[in-house]
Amino acid sequence: MAAPAVLRERRGNGMARMSTALDLTKTDGLKPLERAARHPLMLGLFIPLQQGAWSPSTWPRSTSWSFEYNAECTVRAEELGFDLVFGLAQWLGKGGYGGDMRFREHAIDPLLVTAALAPLTRNIILISTVHILYGWHPLHLAKFAASIDHMSHGRWGLNVVTGYKTSEYEMFGIVPIAHDLRYEMADFVAPKPVNGAVIMVNAASSGAGLDYAAKHSDLIFVTSPAGANLDRACEALPPHNAKIKAHARRHGREVKTIINPHVICRETEKEAHAQFRAIVEHQDPVAADNFYATFMGGDQQSWKAATRSDWVIGGNVHVVGSPEQVVDAFVRLHKAGCDGVQVNFYDYLSDLEFFGARVVPLMKQAGLRAG
Ligand SMILES: Cc1cc2nc3c(=O)[nH]c(=O)nc-3n(C[C@H](O)[C@H](O)[C@H](O)COP(=O)(O)O)c2cc1C
Repeated sequence: MAAPAVLRERRGNGMARMSTALDLTKTDGLKPLERAARHPLMLGLFIPLQQGAWSPSTWPRSTSWSFEYNAECTVRAEELGFDLVFGLAQWLGKGGYGGDMRFREHAIDPLLVTAALAPLTRNIILISTVHILYGWHPLHLAKFAASIDHMSHGRWGLNVVTGYKTSEYEMFGIVPIAHDLRYEMADFVAPKPVNGAVIMVNAASSGAGLDYAAKHSDLIFVTSPAGANLDRACEALPPHNAKIKAHARRHGREVKTIINPHVICRETEKEAHAQFRAIVEHQDPVAADNFYATFMGGDQQSWKAATRSDWVIGGNVHVVGSPEQVVDAFVRLHKAGCDGVQVNFYDYLSDLEFFGARVVPLMKQAGLRAG
């Protein structure tokens, strides 16, 4: 696939743009995460590094796992004022999660993608997931982390994951490690921030995981303890967010929490729900079964309340409706103690464009976004 013009232009001007980034950092004196946190609700994009992204459905869409597509999403998200992009990491065999669509069979690696995105962007935070216990030497990780930190001028974040799938450990020829021991090992193995600049991220839910996250993370991804239904999520999230923040404070630290809603937004509520139904009706049942079984089967505590039908849409809380309804949902998530939303879409580039045109301005009006 030929690189879109916007990317060719960015590549051509990469070095010039990076010096601008340095100047910007100097003028407001803020680190990238501090700049993002000036917004009452941080805004992130969960980029589609995996084939099929979040939804085991064959309903037509442009979404692609190619680097060019992900780069275009990232560049556009930055232009629309998003604070961060994030990529997940997974290790699947041939056929991915299976089904006719071979859900998530193909994927590109978030660490390499964020390195490549660094010179194409200048403000947006780039977070990659790394399974730190799959045979990495800590020095390799520390060196790579420091390198991307420098390449992005302090805009890189490391989402430390310890791996919850036996099948993944087996792919690396490693005997699966018991849940709590994994976090003890992570405590040892995680690279310490370079110049205080590497943004440390984690998505723990368990006691051992939160102990680790409270000590080391700046940003914690939360999952709804009550599944994807917005009303139930907004009831369950306040104590969950409060518990995480209190835990961090016991370690003398302030952390931000961020949740990943799957957003289906159209001009009217009716159109948004029609899109929701179309995705569900075109589900690949085998891929959906396997995707759901993965989250039910692992020893992790996140996602456990999500149902099989939640997983056909994917992501975390489902936010479906008109632009006004989406912003209303964000206001509720903010009131429930979430410091940010990191959105997933079904048809990324067109959904992102609509979101930028119709939702972002309303977020500003609602006081969720500064400036
Ligand atoms: C937003 C989000 C993104 C995640 N990304 C990944 C990932 O890319 N790879 C992975 O193996 N686990 C990922 N996880 C799962 C976490 O690594 C972790 O296993 C899970 O949240 C459970 O934590 P616990 O061990 O404390 O129960 C993610 C979780 C969340 C909420």
